[in-house]
Amino acid sequence: MSDTILSCEKLNIFYDKEHVVKDVSFSLKRGEILGIAGESGSGKSTIIKASMGLLGKDAKIESGDIVFEDTNLCTTSEKEMRKLRGNKLGIVFQNPETYLCPVRKVGKQIAESINAHENTDAKKAKEHALEIFERLNLKDGERIYESYPFELSGGMNQRVAIATACLMNPRVLLVDEPTSALDRLAKKQVEDELLLLREKNNTAVIVVTHDIKLLEDVADNILVLKDGTVQEYGTKEDVLSSPKSSYTRLLIDSVPKGKGKRWNLLSE
Ligand SMILES: Nc1ncnc2c1ncn2[C@@H]1O[C@H](COP(=O)(O)OP(=O)(O)O)[C@@H](O)[C@H]1O
Ligand SMILES: [Mg+2]
Repeated sequence: MSDTILSCEKLNIFYDKEHVVKDVSFSLKRGEILGIAGESGSGKSTIIKASMGLLGKDAKIESGDIVFEDTNLCTTSEKEMRKLRGNKLGIVFQNPETYLCPVRKVGKQIAESINAHENTDAKKAKEHALEIFERLNLKDGERIYESYPFELSGGMNQRVAIATACLMNPRVLLVDEPTSALDRLAKKQVEDELLLLREKNNTAVIVVTHDIKLLEDVADNILVLKDGTVQEYGTKEDVLSSPKSSYTRLLIDSVPKGKGKRWNLLSE
């Protein structure tokens, strides 16, 4: 079996006449964490949506392929996509609190999401969820399970959303801006969760972010996008220490350099 689990080849996507993803190629191996960085509007979420078959009808994949295992996600039917989504391809959108129902307990929503894929009773669903919470180092799983989303912090909701997406043990997890609304401590916890996920489940992860600093901590490879075009693609070390494009350099330089050894990679 090939080590590559997902590959994107010369992908071109339009919204009406606007060309928003231009000839984008990358590949992802089992257990790899790929970071896609770029400022707002660069096409990051569009790539994630295309990989999940969730582009609205305003968008058109003009050419290119996204191949997951042996399936071309650009041409597969909605019916087939539904089988893959959630099951083999997990997704965590930005701001999970906006899609968690505010008036129903977290646990109830998790049980429903498990039930959408496999028939299981409430007790088993809960056991399964608590086991995943524990594996991903989410302390106090019982309390989380019995909470309403508004009773949890933004960081906790994000971590629960990632854990929930992992219940089906997807081969690939796509995570869109996981830390954009979080403070430093919560960011660190989300980062640790993503690393644990790779370590324990060998899940391949694509993390999309405008925060290149997040990628320094979690990514193996980094792809930098600008206006839908790949500016840079390579190992984290190469991209951060010797970026080829001035745009990547700008993105790196825009990160405030804290105390300690962060950004040593970039010292010149
Ligand atoms: N539903 C849509 N209809 C029209 N244009 C869109 C739509 N969604 C995104 N776009 C445009 O596509 C480009 C890329 O957007 P997006 O993928 O959301 O960027 P990012 O996630 O990097 O911020 C932007 O110019 C945005 O305005
Ligand atoms: Mg986005």
